[in-house]
Amino acid sequence: MISLRQLQNRNILLGVTGGIAAYKSAELVRQLCQAGATVRVVMTEAAQQFIAPLTFQALSGNPVSTTLLDPQAEAGMGHIELARWADLVLVAPATADFIARHAAGRADDLLSAICRATAAPQLIAPAMNQQMWRNPATQENVARLQQQGVMLSGPESGSQACGEVGPGRMVEPAQLVEQVAAQFQSGLLQGVRVLITAGPTREPIDPVRFLSNRSSGKMGFAIAQAAVEAGAEVTLVAGPVALETPDHLRRIDVESGQEMAEVVVQEVAETALFIATAAVADYRPLEVAAEKIKKGSDERVLRLIRNRDILAEVAARPSPPYTVGFAAETEKLREYAQQKLVDKKVDMIAANRVGEAGTGFDADDNALILFWADGERSLQRKSKRQLARELMAEIAQQISKR
Ligand code: PMT
Repeated sequence: MISLRQLQNRNILLGVTGGIAAYKSAELVRQLCQAGATVRVVMTEAAQQFIAPLTFQALSGNPVSTTLLDPQAEAGMGHIELARWADLVLVAPATADFIARHAAGRADDLLSAICRATAAPQLIAPAMNQQMWRNPATQENVARLQQQGVMLSGPESGSQACGEVGPGRMVEPAQLVEQVAAQFQSGLLQGVRVLITAGPTREPIDPVRFLSNRSSGKMGFAIAQAAVEAGAEVTLVAGPVALETPDHLRRIDVESGQEMAEVVVQEVAETALFIATAAVADYRPLEVAAEKIKKGSDERVLRLIRNRDILAEVAARPSPPYTVGFAAETEKLREYAQQKLVDKKVDMIAANRVGEAGTGFDADDNALILFWADGERSLQRKSKRQLARELMAEIAQQISKR
């Protein structure tokens, strides 16, 4: 039984091409949204002859995209933004012409360009006259797409809008929604207890001031969500961030590094996997003034003392969980990250470059190099949500090898 819960907060890009079955896509959007997915619709020119973009805009609550060169898109590259945004690309209905152009590697309209540019899984639901479906050219094109990893749903057999009977009907929306949900049902960490830290810490100087850093918590929250999706029981220890709590996990809010350390020590005993994504301050002010510090001389010295290293403490426990740390570096990324793997005695380090625009701190995208004792893997730049899922899959694989 497929749970539609898997669709919550998923970004589904629905491509609609020009066939009579396009009217069913409106119901498809409604059902995907009802299951909690965020849907953005891309229409080909022919599709707009069958159904108006406004219908999809009203049902999805998002603007509909129709043109490859979109001045509204940031940097004018709508296809790249949408390709990165999507967790899954669904084309329904997919006409014989769209399938042919996709199989030929074309990128001369928005939908086919997205199909070229996305790293997300693709599912297409063909709909056409039964003779067009049976045509050897169509069958060759479908086979080529399947070899490339594009998934196929249908078509079904039955009476067709053209009056003929045979294979070529688009799969019903409810069934397509289930197939989309099934793509997210990984169960890689079913029932595994996972403890995750996220966000920055605030180290108080006086009642109104603190030391902190630029972490937004986005990476840690994405990892927590990916762990839930993988079936884990997740506890998320969060520093001060302005993010909504993902569904189906327990969140504990903390402020300082000391508080975070105390909560982690309390929670870690029953944990099988610990992921330290938080940017914990290495130092805190030695003394915290009870009253607001008043302006005085031109120079003032703030004495700092080391905070506990939460990650190293967890890894040093007598029977530690599988322990994943992060390394945020502005230079010598590989060298420093590999050093942390050894120094902190953790099972895996996820290294990311920080201090550059677009990735790392407070960005929506990131890129990681994962290091473990006898291996490494690069995860190319993509949304933190997608990256978190790939990270979780790699962690599950490494745990299974133990
Ligand atoms: O939150 P975002 O805006 O999405 O940004 C994500 C991120 C860049 C913060 C994240 O991807 C990241 O790199 N997190 C770790 C940041 C960090 O503190 O790195 P570090 O190299 O200083 O620390 C190494 C590891 O030790 C980290 O796992 C850290 O959580 C842990 N640590 C550090 C100090 C300390 N006192 N206790 C710890 O547990």
